[in-house]
Amino acid sequence: MATAHQIDGSISAARPSWRRAPLFRVLLTQAVGALFAFTGAFAGAIWLGQTAPLFVVLAVQGIIAARLGERLFRLPRWWIPIQMAMPPAAALASSLAVPAWIYLAAFAILTLVFWNAARSRVPLYLTNDTTVMALAALLPLRPGARFVDLGHGFGGTVIDLARVRPDMRIEGIESAPLPFLVSWARRLLTGPVNAHMIYGDFWNRSLAPYDVVYAFLSPAPMSALRDKARREMTPGSLLISNSFQIEDRAAYEVKTLDDGRRTRLYLYKM
Ligand SMILES: C[S@@+](CC[C@H](N)C(=O)[O-])C[C@H]1O[C@@H](n2cnc3c(N)ncnc32)[C@H](O)[C@@H]1O
Repeated sequence: MATAHQIDGSISAARPSWRRAPLFRVLLTQAVGALFAFTGAFAGAIWLGQTAPLFVVLAVQGIIAARLGERLFRLPRWWIPIQMAMPPAAALASSLAVPAWIYLAAFAILTLVFWNAARSRVPLYLTNDTTVMALAALLPLRPGARFVDLGHGFGGTVIDLARVRPDMRIEGIESAPLPFLVSWARRLLTGPVNAHMIYGDFWNRSLAPYDVVYAFLSPAPMSALRDKARREMTPGSLLISNSFQIEDRAAYEVKTLDDGRRTRLYLYKM
């Protein structure tokens, strides 16, 4: 059984403070990169009389940021090309004759969709049809049983499962405003009545009422989810994790599905 200390520690690891969030580290490394690149460019202009083209200075900024991010700030390697491309791409974008409101609108939409992805490190990607059918086969036969999708995205899994099992109560919890609104509207317009979309943070809701808890998250919150499941889920209930396993706990079954990405479902019985 996890101690309160372990539980708190895991939760704070899954929900990093803004200082530990990857986006903060990216911005910090870019700021340091800009400081070195522009200082170097000014020094070159004063002492050597050579003015470096802006594009070159920005490319140097990106390279410094990428190296710092990888070496010092432990950003995953896939940030390297993004960090390198970011400053020149930003300069290129600002030179295009695109109205400023388009950037603002794009930023607003992305914020509403990826609401707390930078903090929770859970992005949005969707469960495919093969996986929904595999989930349906894992649901208990008992009428009235309850299922919850932690972070229901656009609500596809909840609506499809509710259609397959009209005798069950199928719920989803979502914290990102736009996916929640879309799924809420889908449910309103197309039913089914046993599908329920809840707006909120699943860390603040108990898992005790559910017979099956489904999570398609990321590696980051898995140990905190393990602790939460241990504390709250009732004996006999089932935790299903799509693609991401709990590191120190063996799943009692792993199902590999016959879809394009060979999806793995990790099954944990409480
Ligand atoms: C990988 S997507 C999965 C979407 C959906 N469950 C599916 O399988 O199609 C993860 C979703 O979890 C949501 N999410 C992340 N952390 C959350 C939290 N603490 N509370 C509620 N939703 C959360 C994200 O906004 C995102 O929509």
